[in-house]
Amino acid sequence: MIKTALSNAKSRIRGAVLDAMCKQMMAAGPSGGRRPFDAEELKLLRAALLSQNLCCIDGQMVTAFERRFAFEYGVPYGVASTSGTAAIHVALGALDLNPGDEVITAPITDMGTIIPILCQGAIPVFADVDDTLNIDPAAVERCITGRTKAIVAVHLFGNPCDMDALSAVARRHGLPLIEDCSQSHWTEYKGRLVGTIGDIGTFSFQQSKHMTTGDGGMTITSNPAYHERMKLFADKGYARKGWGSRAYLFHAPNYRMTELVGAVGLAQLEKVKSVVQRRRALGDYLTQTGTRGLTLVTSVMADKDVSGVVGPLLRFVSRVVVTRADTPRAMPAAGLASTIATLAPARLPIVVEPDPVRAVERACADGAPIVAAGSIYLVGPLRAALLAAGFEPA
Ligand SMILES: Cc1ncc(COP(=O)(O)O)c(C=O)c1O
Repeated sequence: MIKTALSNAKSRIRGAVLDAMCKQMMAAGPSGGRRPFDAEELKLLRAALLSQNLCCIDGQMVTAFERRFAFEYGVPYGVASTSGTAAIHVALGALDLNPGDEVITAPITDMGTIIPILCQGAIPVFADVDDTLNIDPAAVERCITGRTKAIVAVHLFGNPCDMDALSAVARRHGLPLIEDCSQSHWTEYKGRLVGTIGDIGTFSFQQSKHMTTGDGGMTITSNPAYHERMKLFADKGYARKGWGSRAYLFHAPNYRMTELVGAVGLAQLEKVKSVVQRRRALGDYLTQTGTRGLTLVTSVMADKDVSGVVGPLLRFVSRVVVTRADTPRAMPAAGLASTIATLAPARLPIVVEPDPVRAVERACADGAPIVAAGSIYLVGPLRAALLAAGFEPA
């Protein structure tokens, strides 16, 4: 009895000392830039390691993370995976697509939205965007053919798509609606969280996102049949229960999240809402006042005001043109950098112009490349403006 009490006291002291060391180590880490992790992540990481099992199949962290994430979103099911790309693939895996099936999606997005469609042998069909840069529901409806099997809407830069209209289109044609929320954690649309309005919602936890595990993803749904297939799809189609010792039900990858990543995800869930609040505040600040670092902050696109929308990620970014200009001296919003990086992976210095044609002219005068590096595909009015000014967008 004394021995047990001593041993318990010892491990409590050891735990407290480790906690203090963790706090100190995190406080002393490299400064400058975003610091998303602290002693909370270290504490859960330590618990994951101490369990001597880092695979989620028999672990507790990933299961807890899935449950907690789903709970926070008010839905019954969450399936964790290795990235936002994987999360979209898991969503598509629930739909049992066949080669040649068509999936309608957004032309302005990360390649992570498109790759899973191609990996399923399906054909991405790009619906044009409206002046919010999110897909236009009317354009989506025009793209529907007899081969269309799903719609993947992307809530870009924290701005929700027009979900009433998109849901109506999906319902009218009996199509499942997947919401790619990789850039829109805790975005609200008319009082509902995006990711819970369509049939399936997907999230990325890549380093720049509102909550991050370095890399990671989550797919949520309220549909038990989708959930069953999603769970199998993220685990090689391996039916672990009730199908004999080793039954693989269909062709699927291994996207299992490790316990280490699950531990970080759990800790991040405690912080994500405050990160969202902060980014909203930064977005509002920049939208309203402009800043020293940006030559001019104003609207490029018509600012479509959808009432009831609360977008967490720098709403104004959907209204900027990224061009070359004087290097901003101070990028005032830490959250801004990552969003701008999506628009301009080369991290070009930016200037914001009210008029897209003039923005192009200024870029020409500077002799610098403009916009559209990497993952952005220009369509709609912005593309027209660029072409009119003699630019071939990348
Ligand atoms: C809209 C969108 N979809 C999908 C992805 C893919 O996520 P990941 O990089 O975690 O695979 C991203 C990543 O930035 C994204 O922004």
